[in-house]
Amino acid sequence: MKRTIIALFALVAFSGTAFAADSYEYKGGAMGKVAFPHKAHMKLGCAKCHEGAPKKIEMNKDVAHNKLCVKCHKAEKKGPQGCKDCHKK
Ligand code: HEC
Ligand code: HEC
Ligand code: HEC
Repeated sequence: MKRTIIALFALVAFSGTAFAADSYEYKGGAMGKVAFPHKAHMKLGCAKCHEGAPKKIEMNKDVAHNKLCVKCHKAEKKGPQGCKDCHKK
């Protein structure tokens, strides 16, 4: 038990592998914050977003709009696509 707790702490502290939150929230600048329900996306398959092993993805406007979020929602015609559907004040 003690060992498990230490192992968990180590993973969180050094953010190496394995843990994904159920959801993330990005600041989104003046447009307002953006919620990303990670868990709800997992069924799409990890490789849709993660190259190689699932690990942290640095989020920014280009990644969000042109590579992941908006690009996929438009292609699949699913998920929020309008500015204010994603960005909430
Ligand atoms: C729709 C895109 C998408 C899909 C599909 C997806 N992920 Fe992620 N995942 C992300 C993004 C974006 C982050 C980064 C969140 C952050 O830290 O801002 C992330 C973060 C993670 C992290 C946390 C990494 C860290 O060190 O903080 C893990 C672990 C992870 N994902 C595993 C998975 C697994 C396993 C699957 C498949 C079952 C999966 N993901 C499917 C987009 C996705
Ligand atoms: C590979 C395709 C893909 C990527 C990349 C992707 N999404 Fe989605 N997203 C979807 C699909 C498909 C749905 C609809 C899911 C459903 O209806 O079950 C969705 C739904 C959503 C929803 C609505 C969830 C709900 O419960 O109604 C939000 C919010 C969302 N996505 C945000 C994001 C954000 C933010 C990103 C980028 C970090 C992102 N998505 C990346 C495919 C994607
Ligand atoms: C599918 C969700 C989604 C949609 C739709 C979307 N965005 Fe974003 N946007 C994001 C995410 C995620 C980020 C990255 C936020 C971050 O890194 O804090 C972002 C970043 C931005 C930023 C940069 C914020 C900053 O200061 O870093 C601006 C500006 C922006 N979006 C404007 C828009 C406008 C305008 C529209 C409509 C044309 C739009 N977005 C549509 C998800 C979305």
